[in-house]
Amino acid sequence: MKAIFKERRAAGGDLDRSGVWRFRELLPFVDDLSQVVTLTEGNTPIYQATRSAEYAGLDQLRFKHQGMNPTGSFKDNGMTTGVTQAALLGATAVACASTGNTSASMAAYAARVGMRAFVFIPAGEVAYGKLSQSLEYGATVVEIEGNFDDAMRLVRELADETDLYLLNSINPFRLEGQKTIIIEMMEQCSWRAPDWIVLPAGNLGNTSAFGKALHEMAELKFIDRIPRLAVIQAEGAAPFYQLWTSTNESALRALEHPVTLATAIRIGNPVSWKKALRALEWTNGIVERVTEQEIADAKAIIGRDGIGCEPASATTLAGIKRLVSADVIDSSEDVVAVLTGSLLKDPTYTIGYHTGKLALNENDSRREIEGSFANRPIRVAAEKEQIKRALGI
Ligand code: F0G
Repeated sequence: MKAIFKERRAAGGDLDRSGVWRFRELLPFVDDLSQVVTLTEGNTPIYQATRSAEYAGLDQLRFKHQGMNPTGSFKDNGMTTGVTQAALLGATAVACASTGNTSASMAAYAARVGMRAFVFIPAGEVAYGKLSQSLEYGATVVEIEGNFDDAMRLVRELADETDLYLLNSINPFRLEGQKTIIIEMMEQCSWRAPDWIVLPAGNLGNTSAFGKALHEMAELKFIDRIPRLAVIQAEGAAPFYQLWTSTNESALRALEHPVTLATAIRIGNPVSWKKALRALEWTNGIVERVTEQEIADAKAIIGRDGIGCEPASATTLAGIKRLVSADVIDSSEDVVAVLTGSLLKDPTYTIGYHTGKLALNENDSRREIEGSFANRPIRVAAEKEQIKRALGI
């Protein structure tokens, strides 16, 4: 490894003390590092998760928790680069369509550098943690009466016709930043690539960035083999899974009415599907889909490990469980899953699950989610003896 670092340094790369080659190659467009717009994102922890491993049928499992970023999601890794580039170009206003996390992140980074931020979100479909962030960071929040795909189409058209600088993950500078999630992960794995990297999929930006990072790291000999990507979608919003499993389709067929309580990935027409297919090719990857019940239960188990995440992130554990059952992942394999967002992003979902009020459609009892691992609060009178009795202590 040292020889590789030496080679990189000779080529003009910057290494930090632990040997990670940093900005110059990663952000080749920035000469002056003081121009980087940052909230000290990245360097997120990687956790062993015993209960989750047991739940999925693995000997062991690690989670890299991107929810530990400044705005609570993986978006910060790409927003530092995206907003830096916007500032270098002299943009005064940035925009994105979002299911909530991109908007929260963009709003924060834009505020740091004094730019206007316009976020386009599907009305009534963004988790409160995320919506409150965009409001607090001072973005102009436009609630579109439509779904995410409508917002995405409109913001692309607006960016074409106006000076708005578009910061969705179709922006290549964002994907460059998101590659660092994988670079960090490999460092945390002591540069020994795991067998599998598992992640949720919505608009497919992360899948594309991870594939690119792994491909480039293998080319540069930072890793000597490429982990397989397992990309997990929610059953009701799984156009990429549909394409992946289809025998006769070569282009993504958009889903007009995607449904899932994991609102972060409620997307029917993912913009980066072509790059994501390339990522699967590079990594010998696969796509899986999981039900609402599986997502909800997996999320509760991740909580029991003392970690926690938002619903979309829990598709990872649900997907791993399926793939182990189907003998695609062997129980002894080395698996790292990426938790993309913080538990605190969507308290409504979490409380709904634990109090038996979570349902895909409130008017349809067949679509209720069972709180298999529910942990209900106990209500008691403000009286010591009654509390003792209720708790059995
Ligand atoms: N997990 C979380 C928590 C997300 O917020 C997203 C996407 C994904 C997974 C899926 O990642 O789109 O790269 O495939 N959120 C976007 C947003 C769409 O607007 O915040 P992807």
